[in-house]
Amino acid sequence: MAREQFGICAEPSLHGYYLLFNVLDDNNDYIRQALSRLPALFDKYADRFSESNLTGVIAIGSNYWDELFPQARPKYLQPFSEVSCDDRIAPAVNYDLYIEVRSDRADVNHIVAGKVCALLADSVDLVEQIRGFRFLDGRDLTGFVDGTENPKGRHRRDVALVHAEDDDRFSSGSYLHIQRYRHNLNHWNTLEVKEQEDVFARTKVDNEEYTSENKPHTSHTKRTSLKNEQGESIEILRQSMPYGDMKLQGLFFVSYCRSPEPFNLMLKSMIIGDENGNFDHMLKYTQAETGAAFFAPSLNILAELMK
Ligand code: HEM
Repeated sequence: MAREQFGICAEPSLHGYYLLFNVLDDNNDYIRQALSRLPALFDKYADRFSESNLTGVIAIGSNYWDELFPQARPKYLQPFSEVSCDDRIAPAVNYDLYIEVRSDRADVNHIVAGKVCALLADSVDLVEQIRGFRFLDGRDLTGFVDGTENPKGRHRRDVALVHAEDDDRFSSGSYLHIQRYRHNLNHWNTLEVKEQEDVFARTKVDNEEYTSENKPHTSHTKRTSLKNEQGESIEILRQSMPYGDMKLQGLFFVSYCRSPEPFNLMLKSMIIGDENGNFDHMLKYTQAETGAAFFAPSLNILAELMK
């Protein structure tokens, strides 16, 4: 059975380092060799700093996939499709490679991210580097706990990893979507706490869910808790982290799933809204500045790159 990259379903960490690269022309052979060596690099540092719970994820951009792995393509891998309605927009920005380094030590992430960059060296252009951190007890910078309704235990694997019956060749891989959101915290902080709570339909301090009848249709959790025709919950595994400095702040949103569809449905439900025009009011206080789709293949497929 194919083995997944362990960072996909890992529990939340204290620190994250997200690297987004574009590959420079004609370096595909070198990139294949380098990517196939990364899992061993992660293992080496996970062992050396064993108390840091280091994990990593390597993912390949939808537009770059065919160049890197022309033998086959994950069944549902598509470029990120921009969604917009009125003044709300989730833009698409393409990247060839995504490398996620997470652990409980910022210094260990720094070392490992440095090794990744040294390995990829002149064959890539580093387009974005985002350092994420845990804020208080797992809160977004809006002050609300993020990740509460994430799948738990073994169910994380069911939600996040491609099942063999869906796509045998790419089983245990994962469809990844990322968006870098920039918050307008000055605007957000003009709201009363109750108004903020209505945006998420959860209480702020105690993180309690509103009852179903009290959830505004414009709340973020109403817009994203979707059901399929059989009445089953449509789920994703979120591994987002806050990022920022004294000038700009936001959330680096990360979603893993066995299919790209749940994320796409949720994003449409947030931006376009329901038949009555109820869109996600969280979007009044934050703006997605990037958006990209990747596939994080199993360790077995990564090993095949070397051949
Ligand atoms: C829930 C924050 C973007 C999907 C939540 C919660 C918070 C939150 C505070 C409630 C606690 C929890 O269950 O985690 C944010 C922020 C975002 C963001 C600050 C961006 C700035 C997104 C996006 C999606 C998404 C882009 C999907 C396209 C979900 C889902 C839930 C959730 C599925 C659980 C809903 C439920 O079942 O109650 N988010 N989120 N979020 N969010 Fe987001």
